[in-house]
Amino acid sequence: MGRNLVLNMADHGFSVSGYDRDTNQQNRLLEEGKGKQVQAAASMQAFVETLEIPRRVMMLVPAGKIVDAVIDEIKPFLQAGDILIDGGNSHYTDTDTRIERLKETGIHFTGMGVSGGEDGARLGPSMMPGGNKAGYAELKNILEKIAAQTDDGPCVTFVGNGSAGHYTKMVHNGIEYAIMQLISEVYAILKNVGGYNNDELHTIFTDWNNGPLQSFLVEITAKIFLQADDVDASKRLVDVILDRAAQKGTGMWTSESALKLNIPTAAIDEAVSARDLSSFKKERETIDTFKTAATTNNAIDKKQLLQYLQDALYFGMAVSYTQGLHLLQVASTNFKYEIDIAEVVRIWKGGCIIRSVMLNDIRKAYLNNDQLTNLLLDKEFYTLLSNHRSAVTEVIKIAMENKIGIPVLSSSLNYVDMFSTGRSASNLIQAQRDYFGAHTYERIDKTGNFHTNWS
Ligand code: 6PG
Repeated sequence: MGRNLVLNMADHGFSVSGYDRDTNQQNRLLEEGKGKQVQAAASMQAFVETLEIPRRVMMLVPAGKIVDAVIDEIKPFLQAGDILIDGGNSHYTDTDTRIERLKETGIHFTGMGVSGGEDGARLGPSMMPGGNKAGYAELKNILEKIAAQTDDGPCVTFVGNGSAGHYTKMVHNGIEYAIMQLISEVYAILKNVGGYNNDELHTIFTDWNNGPLQSFLVEITAKIFLQADDVDASKRLVDVILDRAAQKGTGMWTSESALKLNIPTAAIDEAVSARDLSSFKKERETIDTFKTAATTNNAIDKKQLLQYLQDALYFGMAVSYTQGLHLLQVASTNFKYEIDIAEVVRIWKGGCIIRSVMLNDIRKAYLNNDQLTNLLLDKEFYTLLSNHRSAVTEVIKIAMENKIGIPVLSSSLNYVDMFSTGRSASNLIQAQRDYFGAHTYERIDKTGNFHTNWS
């Protein structure tokens, strides 16, 4: 990603230096940067010496201790006013610590989420820088040029104070986990209930990508089904990939933060759990040998099934964004980030993994009301979602009958139903708490806290 960002900057006429300890990487940068204003340095000091003042340095290293090691290595060569960007997926609390640690040096430390993978870095990523506005002012021109471009401008903006950039990228990834899991739930039904083969799946996802579901993840899913296995060309690669999904932690961090801030993000939580569950491959296989097979006599109308699944995927995706953005809005207030959610939605419209056409409607809702806490409060958006509700219930019935787990999709329906219920059943929980623990309860007709001697 680092090399690709360097080449992207050079394409836009900037003179750029790269540094990697590995001499092969240095040579590769020089090779690919031939004919452009690209240099590869052989040491950190030599690298810093090539830079104009204020120096603008971007680190692209794996999150964790290595970020601190690079900061320690470069710090002696930097001075007040220089900008040091961490473009990796660092945990936001680490970013806060690093900002604090560098404060006295006058170096602007910028935690910046970068999304879009290697191709995005080369052709136009979505970037989420935080930190302080003075630091961003020095970066704006470069970042706006290398970012993905949309009708609503380049996919970069100053996201907010402190660790806002990394927090926003974390939430982006939480939503990414939820949408990926939703697509795999839909795939399970299409394959196992609909009986569709990979060529048909390719056509279905391609069609969907030409409609309201248009998004990067649906687009690449369509392509995945066509990829031949490079070991045995008679097979499709997707069929020989082990069904155990790995993770680097950003989805879990999103859920962790949401739990701490008391914001319901069940779609994201369920997506993380589903990845965890997938790792129990041996256990799953064992239980599979003695479980009773699903028996369903209901004939499936395949055309109808496709429509249900398309609508259900739309519903689930919309809920994933809803939950993630609710979390982001609350985190912004809590951590004093001052994030403009409509702007975040705008910069997610291109370049990033969760870009989708649906974000246009979502952005409209936040432009109408920048204090919107939850998207469901926007009547138009809620109505749009409601129109897809019956398809979700049909898909859930089909999945249950066929013993196919669809945790994110079913939790999405629960979420919308519960979030739109004025009088819920939580009064009973309060009664139970007060019964066994004298935890008190509030009343609907009087203010204050009450306790009853129940027994
Ligand atoms: C992106 C991706 C990127 C990375 C994920 C993968 O926006 O470009 O989100 O950051 O691919 O972190 O995360 P997992 O390994 O946890 O799936």
